[in-house]
Amino acid sequence: MKILVVDDEFVSRMILQKLMGSIGECEAVENGEDALKSAFSNPPPDLILLDIMMPGMDGYTVCKRLRSDPSTKDTPIIFLSANTNVEDITKGFELGAVDYITKPFQKAEVKARVRTHLTLKQMREEMQDKNLLLNKQVDEIKEKTERLDQSRKRLVQSEKMASLGQLVAGVAHEINTPVGIGITVSSHLVDQTREIIAAFDKNKMTKSALTQYFAKTLETSELIFTHLVQAGDLVRSFKMISADQTVHERRSFILKSYLDDIIVSLRPKLKKELHQVTVNCREDIEINSYPGALAQIITNLIINSLLHAYSEGEEGNIRIHVSMEGTDVILEYGDDGKGISPENIDKIFDPFFTTKRGKGGTGLGLHIIYNTVTEILKGSITCESTLGQGARFRIRLPVSIAE
Ligand SMILES: Nc1ncnc2c1ncn2[C@@H]1O[C@H](COP(=O)(O)OP(=O)(O)OP(=O)(O)O)[C@@H](O)[C@H]1O
Ligand SMILES: [Mg+2]
Repeated sequence: MKILVVDDEFVSRMILQKLMGSIGECEAVENGEDALKSAFSNPPPDLILLDIMMPGMDGYTVCKRLRSDPSTKDTPIIFLSANTNVEDITKGFELGAVDYITKPFQKAEVKARVRTHLTLKQMREEMQDKNLLLNKQVDEIKEKTERLDQSRKRLVQSEKMASLGQLVAGVAHEINTPVGIGITVSSHLVDQTREIIAAFDKNKMTKSALTQYFAKTLETSELIFTHLVQAGDLVRSFKMISADQTVHERRSFILKSYLDDIIVSLRPKLKKELHQVTVNCREDIEINSYPGALAQIITNLIINSLLHAYSEGEEGNIRIHVSMEGTDVILEYGDDGKGISPENIDKIFDPFFTTKRGKGGTGLGLHIIYNTVTEILKGSITCESTLGQGARFRIRLPVSIAE
């Protein structure tokens, strides 16, 4: 510890120097100019005992100069003075002194005060070091988080590309079937038509051949038609997968009445099979989201229940229950139909997974729902089911989607 004593009185300077010598390394000077010289030397003192009344530059001026220099602006300064009036003491503190000792001083008191301020200084420096270290660590963590975030984004991107690749392969595969059948059947039709034209040209066309041709033509054109419709439906579904955010309009709406509207729009479908749909939702839940996307989800879930959960003539109960969890809406959808087997439950959100292939299922419904919930509505969806006890879908949505 380096202590600087500044005092013009010889005796007091000597006493202080000796006193401070027992605490650390001590230098004693007799005027303000020398005090500044010593204070700005390297390393600067750790503490300065500064007399106020000195010929030439007084203690206050020295203090001001020290405070305005970066190397000494935090150095603890203890003023020494025979002046005990409040103004002088206050002025000393205002100029940035840490303490004020009146002369004549008690040796023990000076020592104790110096020690206290040296300890305080040390503690302050340690705190600063620790803060610096902490800031450095925070910066490092920030950098690491940023790197992690970037690799996560890259991963998501490559995952997306991979699933896109799979999807394209799937699309090609799915469309190939109806289009392939269409090609075979239509080439058959071409052959048959050529034959009948040839017979006609040679005047060899019989009535029975013509009747047969008509029957075959009708059958093949019907086949071509249904397969083209199938291909068309597939193309429509594929378009929906890339559910583009811009086609959906976002707004605030009352959830309960909107859900009721969706159910009303599906009534013709539900009536045919005598199914019951109950919506259990508080009237006052208002959400800011994409109503179109929500309608698409509910409609798809209901169509799935109609298609997969119940046999013909069976009367089903479909329940929609809405509750709040913090700022999230929990929408639970459940039917009491056949349910989904444990080996299938992990696959239902995969594109093209269907148990109704060739019977009206493409296996895209739940995949589209999954994408819509996560990408557009910024929520999540899970499914639980026990065979024979129906399927339950739990959808979590934020009450309001950030811009
Ligand atoms: N409510 C349900 N009850 C029982 N099984 C279901 C239910 N919903 C979906 N599934 C099962 O999940 C599969 C995938 O459903 P998804 O909606 O993705 O395809 P899909 O209905 O078969 O065909 P698409 O919806 O493309 O016409 C279904 O084939 C069916 O096996
Ligand atoms: Mg479906």
